[in-house]
Amino acid sequence: MNIQHNISLKPYNTFGIDVAAKHFVAISTLEELTAVLSLKDYPNKLILGGGSNMLLTKDVDALVIHINIKGISIISETEDSVLVKANAGEIWHDFVLWTLNQDYGGLENLSLIPGNVGTSPIQNIGAYGVELKDVFESCEAIHLQTLKLHTFNKAACNFGYRNSIFKQEAKGQYIITSVTFKLSKTNHELHTNYGAITTELEHMQVSNPSIQDISKAVISIRNSKLPNPKDIGNSGSFFKNPVVSKDLYLHLLHQFPDIPSYPVSETEVKIPAGWLIEKAGFKGKRLGDYGVHKNQALVLVNYGGAKGSDILKLSEIIQQTIQRIFNISIESEVNIL
Ligand code: FAD
Ligand code: EPU
Repeated sequence: MNIQHNISLKPYNTFGIDVAAKHFVAISTLEELTAVLSLKDYPNKLILGGGSNMLLTKDVDALVIHINIKGISIISETEDSVLVKANAGEIWHDFVLWTLNQDYGGLENLSLIPGNVGTSPIQNIGAYGVELKDVFESCEAIHLQTLKLHTFNKAACNFGYRNSIFKQEAKGQYIITSVTFKLSKTNHELHTNYGAITTELEHMQVSNPSIQDISKAVISIRNSKLPNPKDIGNSGSFFKNPVVSKDLYLHLLHQFPDIPSYPVSETEVKIPAGWLIEKAGFKGKRLGDYGVHKNQALVLVNYGGAKGSDILKLSEIIQQTIQRIFNISIESEVNIL
């Protein structure tokens, strides 16, 4: 185990923010993780996966533990389904491609989401009509204080839209070390109704899509919409899409007849925050080295040398403006540190 000191986190966060970690260690086995958590010298800890859902606003006065535990194994299988366990440090998209190579179905709509497998339950990652919870069997997590390994089944995770127990009651208490998925081996359930998937499949001239075709369609749509962090620093959607009462929605519909919405329940609808931000005039706005992406108003970007505090300030101005114009409070999805 090699603990480094005063190192830049710029290569470790997709926003590309240049702050320093007081201490940093990369962990590649469960034993190393237990050993590092037993050290008494580092009371403050920050768990780091792929760094694709965090905004670093200041130097990190803690031991940054970079989770790099690799490994994929099959736990059990029947004729129709398989339980696959992936360790937390596996790169999410590489794991998705691995499952598609085995012709295991379930993760194809979640192709190309950045980050690590171990982080996927934290905000119940979702895209193109599928959420992690749809294929989640269980995860293992080590308690930071007791160092005991706990297994969380789906019910225990209390998944919601971009939400789980790990963002609520259990926040900051556990490190997820592996995730087990239940995937299909036959009769894959295809999800092609969301967004532009059908149009993209038509464009690809595919009428009877396989799970691999759906993955390719999702990759193509994502590449056309979302900035690649290798080119422009970002953390994907900066805010969650707000869920509002039908009453407020109907009131807004009167004022803004083109306002989009998705049904949530009898009394609530979800409104795309990207639409609200675009309508408020922020889309494509650039303030020096940072701004709002020109193709996707929900994505805040760092063009190079922005500080996390600059981006945080911009996000607060956006929140206040959306509140003033629409009477809607939008919550950040990104973890602000
Ligand atoms: P990190 O940023 O490293 O960590 C996020 C949080 O989890 C931090 O608070 C960290 O301390 C904690 N954490 C990390 N690892 C662990 C662990 N093993 N145990 C406990 N805590 C941990 N998200 C979606 O849901 N859908 C999308 O479509 C999507 N698209 C994106 C597109 C782009 C271009 C980008 C940059 C991001 C996108 N995201 C999306 C957000 C992001 O990819 C996910 O939230 C992802 O799960 C974050 O993983 P990570 O390993 O990078 O997390
Ligand atoms: N829209 C605009 N202007 C914009 C952007 C969006 O008007 O600049 C409106 C349009 O009406 C569009 C609608 O918003 O039809 C939805 O846009 P999009 O399909 O791009 O999806 P999103 O709601 O902006 C969500 C997730 C993404 C996920 C996609 C696809 C959240 C916060 N974001 O984005 O997840 O990839 O759907 O399923 O739920 C992430 O979490 O980081 C992320 C990228």
